[in-house]
Amino acid sequence: MTTSYTLRSASPAKSRADAVVVGVLSTAKGPQLAPGGEDVAKAYGRKLAPLLATLGVKGKAGELVKLPTGGAISAPVLLLAGLGDDVTADSVRRAAGGAARAVSNAASVALALPADSPVLVRSVTEGYQLGAYTFTTYKKQTEDDAPGDVVLLTPNARRKETVTAFEEAQVVVRAVVQTRDWVNTPPGDLTPPAFADAAVASGKEWGKGRGAPKVSVTVLDEKRLAELGCGGILGVGQGSSAPPRLVELTYSPKKPVCHLALVGKGITFDSGGLTIKPAQSMHEMKSDMSGAAAVIQATYAIAALGLPIKVSTFAAMAENMVSGTSMRPGDVITQYGGTTVEVLNTDAEGRLVLADALVRATEVKPDIVLDVATLTGHMVLALGDRVAGVMGSDDIVRDVIAASEVAGEDHWPMPFPDGMVERVRASKIADLSQHDWVRWGGGLFAGTFLREFTAGLPWAHLDIAGTAFNSGGPRGHVSAGGTGWGVATLVDYARALSER
Ligand code: BES
Ligand code: MN
Ligand code: ZN
Repeated sequence: MTTSYTLRSASPAKSRADAVVVGVLSTAKGPQLAPGGEDVAKAYGRKLAPLLATLGVKGKAGELVKLPTGGAISAPVLLLAGLGDDVTADSVRRAAGGAARAVSNAASVALALPADSPVLVRSVTEGYQLGAYTFTTYKKQTEDDAPGDVVLLTPNARRKETVTAFEEAQVVVRAVVQTRDWVNTPPGDLTPPAFADAAVASGKEWGKGRGAPKVSVTVLDEKRLAELGCGGILGVGQGSSAPPRLVELTYSPKKPVCHLALVGKGITFDSGGLTIKPAQSMHEMKSDMSGAAAVIQATYAIAALGLPIKVSTFAAMAENMVSGTSMRPGDVITQYGGTTVEVLNTDAEGRLVLADALVRATEVKPDIVLDVATLTGHMVLALGDRVAGVMGSDDIVRDVIAASEVAGEDHWPMPFPDGMVERVRASKIADLSQHDWVRWGGGLFAGTFLREFTAGLPWAHLDIAGTAFNSGGPRGHVSAGGTGWGVATLVDYARALSER
């Protein structure tokens, strides 16, 4: 069933929906219904506090308690979603996400979570719709009885800022959902050519709406990549029977205030190549194209929002496989633009495809370059699975972090340590070394390597290796599998540029 989402100013106590969702705050005086839930609290009156106590409701973040209302309010079921200590964009986004899965059996839902500002309307919308996400393409039977109607209750349903926040949030959701779908698709079905085709098809879908801005898409195939001398993308892809691709997108609004280049790592499967990975979690390396998926979808979303930012996007797609034609440790490749690189570990393939794409990006003379990549396990060890690393020019890093805070995707700045450039330039036979076998700081080596290809432009590199794929169960708005990480940050980054 497809779900319809609408905004309304109405009392949740009088809602005829099958389920009403309210937030609960944990306060010094015990659990309290959060803003949005006032009418529900009033309807229960003095019975509310003892009821919450009996149910063990504390208002802790992540807490979800469903109860039959017995006529206390018009709806038959009330869902209490814990917000923790504060109403924040993040706490509301998480609670809305958890709530979406708790009411998936209701035919209609009224959301009475805190939503009295555009920021919170966005949180409820994104949180709920992303929390409801499931990937069922490969399932014979789906337990997909998603609600038909979801009404978001807000005191300001008619205000322009409210409606805009609601609509813009759904654009971001759409982009995140498509990113997740691509990440979750099995690698045999999302080879580089298939991924490139999907990027084109998705662009057609986005372009369907009335007045939808045009994004031009060019797919460079292996022949064209050879003509251009994209030795990184070709070298990484040469062991696979599915040839590599470079997908280039351009969104060119009338009066751009800035030109942003986005670069994404699109390894559709990373076996490690001859420097093969351990078997245990190799299947998760279908997610190694998350950066490319994020930059493509962010580009479409930025266009759909009509932001006055020119965007040039470069998604480097290859499959890193083991065969008689695979790249070998010891090989020297020539990147696009002529820099030679000695390959010492075929599992450090991301930087090689990104180097070609970064040089392509610098050629369009952007004001700023951002690359997004599931680049290193080192970043996962350093920061875990809830925070991504960001390296680059100080001011760009600062702005990425600011955007990511609005987006609800935390990033942490990582340094370029002393001596790292020397390590990157230490090859005895080529311009650069792709890798050395020093394990510590490997994520910083990778970022330093990428910097060699940025022509000194303002730039930041987002290493999303830990955050792009959720190996566990769903939590809040973060579903299992592909998370769509980076899309919201890129869109908020572009939005901030346009508001400057
Ligand atoms: N795709 C991996 C990085 C990765 C690891 C992504 C874990 C998601 C989760 C990347 O291509 C890789 O293999 N990196 C190597 C680099 C090393 C050889 C310098 C790594 O992290 O071990
Ligand atoms: Mn690898
Ligand atoms: Zn990889």
